[in-house]
Amino acid sequence: MPDDPTIKVSPQPANRIDGREFSEICPAYLGRPHARLDPLREQGPFAWDETQKQYFLVCHGAVRRVLQDRTLLRDRSRAGAGTAVAGTYDAPPKDIVERRNGAQVLIFKDGEDHVRLRTLVGAFLARVREARPVVEAIVRDVVTALPAGGVAFDLVAQFAIPIPVRVIATLLGLPQNDHTKVRAWSDDLALGFNPYRTQEEDGRRWQAIREMLVYFRGRLEVARATKTSDLISDWLSLKERGADLSEAEIVDHCIMMLTAGNLSTTDLISNATLAILRDGGLREKLLRDNGLVAAIIEEALRVDPPVTTTDRIVARDGDVADCPFREGDVLTTSLLAANHDPEVFADPHRFDVARPLRPHLAFGAGAHICLGAPLARLEGQTAIRELFARFRDLQLLDESVQLRPVPGHRGPSQLMVRG
Ligand code: HEM
Repeated sequence: MPDDPTIKVSPQPANRIDGREFSEICPAYLGRPHARLDPLREQGPFAWDETQKQYFLVCHGAVRRVLQDRTLLRDRSRAGAGTAVAGTYDAPPKDIVERRNGAQVLIFKDGEDHVRLRTLVGAFLARVREARPVVEAIVRDVVTALPAGGVAFDLVAQFAIPIPVRVIATLLGLPQNDHTKVRAWSDDLALGFNPYRTQEEDGRRWQAIREMLVYFRGRLEVARATKTSDLISDWLSLKERGADLSEAEIVDHCIMMLTAGNLSTTDLISNATLAILRDGGLREKLLRDNGLVAAIIEEALRVDPPVTTTDRIVARDGDVADCPFREGDVLTTSLLAANHDPEVFADPHRFDVARPLRPHLAFGAGAHICLGAPLARLEGQTAIRELFARFRDLQLLDESVQLRPVPGHRGPSQLMVRG
């Protein structure tokens, strides 16, 4: 129990955990998460995380209700003192004045601000609806560059990483010469997912943000001066037509696209490929029927959701999913545990493309449901289709796959294969 009298403590459920043992930084959890999540779920929907001073939710019903509850907040500055989420709300270096109040992006906004920023969504979805030829061309290009003739290569580095970054950079209208730079920034931004990052890593992350703020301000200038046709020019024209948006918000959303949509889509592509490589029968079915690819991607999202947790903050004292909570309480929902709840999914740990219903929560639910879901699905499906069209006999060279120890994420760091 904390000694600080300013820290309010809500009634805690009997089942207590050490959150570090339910984080991807713990090798035992990373390797076999369900060995811990399943028994916890049997004890009830809420556990109290002693170390992070937060609640941890593992049942599909409770997770869904929490994500759909519009009274709950994403704004991390509202998390109670002493909670781990409050600790991740870090102050930027002094020279980055734009970030004094955090990134101005819809993912961390609530209420009216969230609704206002959702005006950016329409333009994004319109671009995604037309993105199929662009995505197909990028995927084919990446697949063609892979070594054939039995040469070993890392499928994550050479296939799953380049696709999402090239797709987002293209939608934003960034010149091809800049893609390598954007990719490096995006890797450094991903360091922010790890609350246990070192000072050196934190410095790299802020340096990437510093450089991206300058870069994207420049891209806004280019879009205005040369009348480009891309997502940046769409967003600028919304502003010119009177939408209540600042240029700083447009810049922040460009940066957010590179954070939200990269690592997660990379992991989706890697996880789905791995599932096929490990299941000869599934590969046979896919090769016979290309139409199966949509079900494979959905099942990969369910079994190995690339984003494993997300948080909500209680705005005021009251009941959430029939339990009393206090203002500032943090509810960490495990999307991974929810997607393996036997109450909803029969034989939940089995990769089964024939499931009749698959109400998985890999993209969240409610007000903050993933904006990029249609793009991620398009990229995932195209990637799998093209990869196995070229490499029908693709072989996994090392069965002992290492997953990346990044909290809240699930995907392999490397997949050595031979075409
Ligand atoms: C397989 C890939 C992806 C997964 C698993 C994923 C997962 C998620 C999840 C779980 C959320 C909800 C977070 C919450 O409720 O707290 C979310 C939100 C979001 N995602 Fe994704 N995402 C993926 C790809 C993308 C892509 C490609 C983009 C855009 C380029 C994107 C943009 C966003 C945005 C903007 C939000 C916030 C929406 C809001 O707050 O209103 N995501 N994503």
